[in-house]
Amino acid sequence: MDLLSSQIGENISRAASCLAQGGLVAFPTETVYGLGGDAFNVSALARIFEVKNRPRFDPLIIHIAELAALDRLVLWEALEREAKEKFDLLTKHFWPGPLTLLLPKRPELPGLANAGLTTAAIRFPAHETAQKLIKLSTGAVAAPSANSFGCLSPTKATHVQAQLGDKVDIILDGGRSGLGLESTVLDICAQPCRILRPGGLSREHIEALIGPVESLEISNADEPLESPGQLKSHSAPRTPLHLCRQGELASLPELSDEGRLYFSASENEGQNSPRVRILSQKGDLMEAAANFFDMLHELDKLGLRLIRAEEAPPQGLGAAINDRLRRAATDK
Ligand code: TXA
Ligand code: MG
Repeated sequence: MDLLSSQIGENISRAASCLAQGGLVAFPTETVYGLGGDAFNVSALARIFEVKNRPRFDPLIIHIAELAALDRLVLWEALEREAKEKFDLLTKHFWPGPLTLLLPKRPELPGLANAGLTTAAIRFPAHETAQKLIKLSTGAVAAPSANSFGCLSPTKATHVQAQLGDKVDIILDGGRSGLGLESTVLDICAQPCRILRPGGLSREHIEALIGPVESLEISNADEPLESPGQLKSHSAPRTPLHLCRQGELASLPELSDEGRLYFSASENEGQNSPRVRILSQKGDLMEAAANFFDMLHELDKLGLRLIRAEEAPPQGLGAAINDRLRRAATDK
């Protein structure tokens, strides 16, 4: 595996050739790092599942870097007029960005990419390196988050290195992912539209543009579902995590072998402890989202008995933070 800086243009070209030849490249996006492979190369796709140890019923997101690439992926004639209108509005406002849309897929796209479903999840990332890499390679890159299945999502190249290391061909290091939470997955063919995974684009932003949308609740069953990413146990630290209501954490006595993840600063004395992290001193949701996975990775490395984490306020990006916390929690 080669760890290459994305600051050097030549490295992006090298990574793009690797992708075009069927290799696997972990690359930065504004949400989290992705583990990329050519969306039309079945052996590259198979290797993505193998490297991540991901069940094949869990479909991948296809990343593009220009709208023209959609014609190879989307069966436009199967998209109803109303859904197409929403697609046009949403993409005009939020692409490139942290919004993944479910669209009817062309038969040429291998079924392995989307677990044999009739739809493909498509995203146009707002990250310069990701865009260059996609354009220079094949124009359609399948990329789940670059973590082992069930483990914490990576927001830095070192997170990818620690989890996947030599199982990938190249890791492109582009620094920290600015947004820090995965994209919002939206089914625009459902009536009303449905958020299958809350993420980096808030429900409020989507609703302001296209009207009310539904949310898929986390399922209690650990089995294949409408959006397989809705499995409850998902992207969790190895350390058991307990979830606390807002304000509850500061009132609990601190134990020597526990870590704490506060949403914002409170008057609690223990805040200077090396086992305590605060997502945002001022309670800013954008800052909290950007720190979320990184701080969980840090706490997880300390070998503690338990991590107690406090819920974020439920609006905006707070909904996505709370969704990830609930999935990570062991006492659900
Ligand atoms: O921000 C992101 O979306 C990142 C970066 C790398 O772009 N990618 C990411 O991929 O989070 P992944 O594979 O970790 O999550 C993809 C989610 C899963 O929950 C999967 O079940 C859902 O999207 N998904 C993909 N295709 C789907 C489909 N056709 N129908 C329903 N859900 C789908
Ligand atoms: Mg993931």
